[in-house]
Order: sequence, then structure tokens, then C-alpha cells
Amino acid sequence: MDLSDSFEKIPVNVFSTPKQGSAFVARQIADFIIAKQKKKEKCVLGLATGSTPKSLYTELIRLHKEEKLSFKNVITFNLDEYYPIDNKALQSYNRFMQTNLFNHIDINPKNIHIPNGEVAKEDIKEHCRQYEKMIKNAGGIDLQILGIGNNGHIGFNEPGSGIYSKTRLITLDNSTRIANAYEFANISQVPRLAITMGISTILQSKKIILMAWGSAKAPVIKKAVEEDDSEQVPASLLQNHDDVTFVVDEAAASELTRNKSPWLTGDCDWTPKMIKKLW
Ligand code: GLP
Repeated sequence: MDLSDSFEKIPVNVFSTPKQGSAFVARQIADFIIAKQKKKEKCVLGLATGSTPKSLYTELIRLHKEEKLSFKNVITFNLDEYYPIDNKALQSYNRFMQTNLFNHIDINPKNIHIPNGEVAKEDIKEHCRQYEKMIKNAGGIDLQILGIGNNGHIGFNEPGSGIYSKTRLITLDNSTRIANAYEFANISQVPRLAITMGISTILQSKKIILMAWGSAKAPVIKKAVEEDDSEQVPASLLQNHDDVTFVVDEAAASELTRNKSPWLTGDCDWTPKMIKKLW
């Protein structure tokens, strides 16, 4: 066993650049879709939004256009959507998915599912119940793609979200509204609510890949991977799944003990730089 793994409770695959990490994840998705096609089966993907999966979607589009990867057997369920929001609004995750992926591939529009930010308030509970039911009827999510918020949220499951939570309406943390304000004219325009799959919805997926790029994500990646699981860092609850991988770039991996203090893992090359780092 590689001792450098001993601080890590979730397997972490580190790539030099986001592009390389995204290409790796895209290949996994493509191989999975093709394997299902050969068996004449549907492939159910859970998809994420935000800046992180953009390069993944670019690569999937490339695989479709240049390598003839077909999405005809693919069913998708997106993690979340702001509430309330017009589906056509620039910041809506419905629009994001059309622009960044669905408009460029051969998926059947009937197979696309995204929480609806336009639903009337009194219908939200039923909408969420139906969303769970549709996932179940599709046979469950085969592969769920996740990003991670700086506060550890997955989907829009903010700190405090329980391990048994299902698709529901949630109040966004102020830190999330600030982090996402760049998508809106100003912070006051960022919706205060969102509809999100729950932690239990996510944990029921057969396989999960969480992606993270950049040094801003490094502290939360360390917390999610190395500390005890806690509702205060929702991504750490993924430690309770038996087929989850984090795919990160070097910057997002920089706070992991294997990089920050490798002498603690017993796997350290004592270069002059390392000696200086310790003393
Ligand atoms: C958003 C989304 C999440 C996403 C996260 C990180 O608010 N609801 O699904 O993973 O925050 O966003 P980004 O990828 O832009 O860093």
C-alpha cells in the first residue's frame, strides 16, 4: 500500500492541468456510454454546472463531433437550479446545459432532466418528489459528475445538509451567493433559493466523480478528503460511498498532506527544497 494515501479517505487522481483531468473524465464517460450501447442499454448520467465542468463538456462535444460518440442512449439528470429563475435567463442552469452541452450533441431532448426554476412555489414539493421518482424510474444514476463549492457544497447542498436529504428547496449560503455573483449583474440579483438533489440522492448513484481545479479549492479538497466526514463539509459525506473518485489538478491538490507535508506520509524525497520547507 502506498503510505501517501493513508491520510486520504477518498481516492484522489491528480492531473497537471484541468484540461488533462477533463479529458480523463470525458474518456471514462465515453467508454461507459459505448459499453452500454453495446448491451443496448440506457446510460444515466448525473450532470453538474458551474465553471468546473465546462472543459469536460467541451471535450464530450469534441468526442461527439470528431469521434462520433453518440448520446442517443443517454438520460441525464442535473443536480440543481436556482429558484426562482426563468429557464431562458443567462444564469439559469437550464440555459447553461443547452449552451455548453446539449445543443451540440445528439441527445434526445426527452431524456434531459433539470430542476425547473419556474415552477410555482406551492408545486415545488411535488416537483422535487417527481424528480426523485424519475431518477428511480430511469434505474438510478449510473455515473454522477460533481463540482465542489468553496464551502464544501455539492449540488447546492450547503453546509448542514443531512446525509438522508433528498431533492428539495434550499436557502443558499451568503458565501455561495457571493461566489456566484459574477454570473449576475450584482449580488442582489443572485437568487436566495435553489432546488437541489439531496445528499442521499447523490449517494445513491452507482459511481461518482468530483472534479476541482485551482488553488481556491485546495483547502476544501483537503477537508473533504482527509478530515472526518461531517455535514459541515457536505462533500466529505462522499466518504460514505464505495465508488467515488476526486479528479483534481495540481493546484487543487496542493493542500493535501502528501503535497503540503509529505514527510508525514513517510513518502518524502529529501530534496534541499523539502528540507527548507520543514525548517
Ligand atoms: C455552484 C453549483 C455546484 C458547483 C459549485 C462550484 O454553485 N451549484 O454544482 O459544483 O457551485 O462552482 P464552480 O465550478 O464554478 O467553482
